[in-house]
Amino acid sequence: MRNIRGGMTNMTMHQELAPAGRVLVLDDEPVIQDVLRDLLQKSGYEVTVLGDAAAARQLLSEDGDWDVFLLDFMLPDDDGMEVLKYARKLHPELVVVMITAFGTVENAVSAMKLGAFHYLTKPFKNEEVRHLVAQAAKTAGLRRENRDLRKALEEKYKFEKIIGKSRRMKELYRFIDQVASSTSTVLIQGESGTGKELVAQAIHRRSPRAVKPFLVVNSNSIPAELLEDNLFGHARGAFTGAVGAKKGLMELADGGTILFDEISTISGDVQAKLLRVMQEKEFLPIGALESRRVDVRILAATNENLRDLVAEGRFREDLYYRMAVISIDLPPLRRRAEDIPLLAEHFLARYTKENRKEVQGFSPDVMALLMEYGWPGNVRELENVVERGVVLATGDRIHVETLPAYMSGPGRSPMLPGPVEGVGLNQALTDFEAVLIRDALEKAGGVQKKAAEILGLKPTTLNEKIKRLGITH
Ligand SMILES: Nc1ncnc2c1ncn2[C@@H]1O[C@H](COP(=O)(O)OP(=O)(O)OP(=O)(O)O)[C@@H](O)[C@H]1O
Ligand SMILES: [Mg+2]
Repeated sequence: MRNIRGGMTNMTMHQELAPAGRVLVLDDEPVIQDVLRDLLQKSGYEVTVLGDAAAARQLLSEDGDWDVFLLDFMLPDDDGMEVLKYARKLHPELVVVMITAFGTVENAVSAMKLGAFHYLTKPFKNEEVRHLVAQAAKTAGLRRENRDLRKALEEKYKFEKIIGKSRRMKELYRFIDQVASSTSTVLIQGESGTGKELVAQAIHRRSPRAVKPFLVVNSNSIPAELLEDNLFGHARGAFTGAVGAKKGLMELADGGTILFDEISTISGDVQAKLLRVMQEKEFLPIGALESRRVDVRILAATNENLRDLVAEGRFREDLYYRMAVISIDLPPLRRRAEDIPLLAEHFLARYTKENRKEVQGFSPDVMALLMEYGWPGNVRELENVVERGVVLATGDRIHVETLPAYMSGPGRSPMLPGPVEGVGLNQALTDFEAVLIRDALEKAGGVQKKAAEILGLKPTTLNEKIKRLGITH
């Protein structure tokens, strides 16, 4: 760990201590070089000075361990902006301070958009340089600490792309490893946004099929006839417009895995064909005379209770039993609140990087709210909330004002009615769901995508619910 101090220590002290940080200076003017070297060395930094872009690129490719990079815009052999891009690409955590001539502040602003930390305007005062470099070095220290912490966390609590350290998630990781090697179908059940697709990916990646394709079929987003064609393909001339033969996804995924997402929405025809593939490992493309043999592992995901659908006659019982040979139930986020801080940090890191923002964390009241909230849209909703917070953040923390109003405003949890005799729980839940959906649609001015966001649902899931509940708007 390096010792990072401000610039105010005197000479005799800093000679015995570790340097206050390593600074790289790139400027071709000898006077500036001398002034900066002298000034920064006196403040306890280890300073390296270069005069052209080529030398800097060379050095940066070998050594990225700098606290601060002071970079001039006008270089004899290149544009400082290009060096900035190069440096940030190679070392995204590098803290860069641009040196700019008086009157070219627009340049500095565009540099900051590219991730520069700040800028110095020539001619500068010594005190200004000391102050800015000290701040930059402090930021470098924080970035490094954050990165180390995050790495440690991720290595410890990550399974493929799934994050979580709760007991239930650790059990899930073990279970995935157990089932990955078999060829059995796995039915992945869980509320919207609990990570069903991630689990399916993890099963594929941990299986001997990992080198073969992993395809996702979302039956809800394609009309039934098209789905059949997409899945099984067709022979030449099978129907008007079928000028050539077409391979279906089943054939394209041969040797690999297919995830049937939202399996509850597939039509009866496709259910029958699917059952045949699962039983006989073969299928007939539309209009073909000979069936094809394939070796495809089938995974299915659903956020509806398939057993209920079987009872209602909307899903084939035989197919259900085939699918549910192994089933995984993903816990909703509210049942594993201890994963919330970890997930929140994970998404914070992702979205600060993506948006090139300097947000370091959450204010304590925000974290309390995140822990308390019910997360009907589960991890997807949490991800959206953090992304929004990062985009709206103006300082180095995410504050309550950046959270969606429904999380913190009054009436954040809608009043729940008591039990009514003669109305079963399922009916009550359905009614309640319909009320919330109508409300959200109204708030969103009828725009389903926006309403889905309010409810923390995927637009396709909301659409499905609207259809099922017969909501008109
Ligand atoms: N445990 C987790 N760790 C990290 N990211 C997660 C986790 N669970 C979910 N996510 C993220 O949340 C989002 C939703 O996950 P995913 O698509 O797998 O959910 P789902 O259960 O399939 O939801 P739906 O039923 O709405 O399709 C994705 O961006 C995913 O990366
Ligand atoms: Mg999904």
